[in-house]
Amino acid sequence: MARFDQLVFSGVQPTGNLHLGNYLGAIRNFVELQKSYDCIYCVVDLHAITQSVDVWGGPAELTRATREVAAAYIACGIDPKKQIIFNQSRVPEHAELAWVFNCVARIGWLNRMTQFKEKAGKDRENASIGLYDYPVLMAADILVYRATHVPVGDDQKQHLELSRDIAQKFNNDFAQDIARLGHGEGYFPLPEPLIQGPATRVMSLRDGSKKMSKSDPSDYSRINLSDEADAIAQKVRKAKTDPEPLPSEVEGLAGRPEADNLVGIFAALDGVARPDVLKRFGGGQFSTFKNALVDLAVARLGPIGAEMKRLQTDAAYIDAVLKDGAERARARATRVMDEVKDIVGFLR
Ligand code: TRP
Repeated sequence: MARFDQLVFSGVQPTGNLHLGNYLGAIRNFVELQKSYDCIYCVVDLHAITQSVDVWGGPAELTRATREVAAAYIACGIDPKKQIIFNQSRVPEHAELAWVFNCVARIGWLNRMTQFKEKAGKDRENASIGLYDYPVLMAADILVYRATHVPVGDDQKQHLELSRDIAQKFNNDFAQDIARLGHGEGYFPLPEPLIQGPATRVMSLRDGSKKMSKSDPSDYSRINLSDEADAIAQKVRKAKTDPEPLPSEVEGLAGRPEADNLVGIFAALDGVARPDVLKRFGGGQFSTFKNALVDLAVARLGPIGAEMKRLQTDAAYIDAVLKDGAERARARATRVMDEVKDIVGFLR
């Protein structure tokens, strides 16, 4: 018997609009995983406020974006009754365990985090302490449920490794107490990354060398998950291309970032590999391929956009899902936190 029950945990930040990159890179995998695992999917609002308030947009925007992420989870097909969907700030044990982990993690470990360096930029003295501490909170998110598997993109792999380091050091530092209290070899599992299929990096529809981003000033650079059929079709039609026909081999996409991106999007939406797409469209007119991509994108994403729109007019339903999810999450989190208190020696 496995020492730890298999459990998936992941989170998405409620900042800005969700787009095709979030769907293909994360949420679509979350939906798939519920077939094989119990899953907890969090809207990480505590993480959202780690950057300056003009980045996350202030209270009204945070509330809106929290509901939008929840709506996206549901619209994409996560079952809120079977799985748990909730917002992080509702379960105070995340922050509580993060404090204990602050005292386990080492400054040297955090100093190596590349995302902090990128997000803090040149003016590091002026970054929030929360931004620096972000990966410790992320470790607490996962381990407060003793989750074993975490679907993450490439950019979060380093943070997940830090979670493993924290779990391991906690297990070592308190080994005797953990054994004395009957938890066997280690209290926390070392959570493993789940990387699904070929990583789908979705680039801007206006510039194939830039990642699709919520902060790009042009809405034509991205397909928002809340876009409905008309907008999706228009954006694909207007997507930047080059004058050459599509090649028959993937090598022919080298140096053609826009064509490569659209082929990659087609492949991901159709559940096939790039060479299959080129087998079908290589040598033909770009316009033929684009028309097929319009149809495919509208077929796959149109219903999600429509459902998100419907859900967003029903805030009461979304709020009820998040509240119910938080209650179920909290029941587990308090159990773990109580055991952590016993291990560390906090009276309760
Ligand atoms: N840092 C993740 C991101 O930006 C979001 C996140 C927060 C997360 N806590 C997590 C992901 C725990 C996985 C597990 O994408």
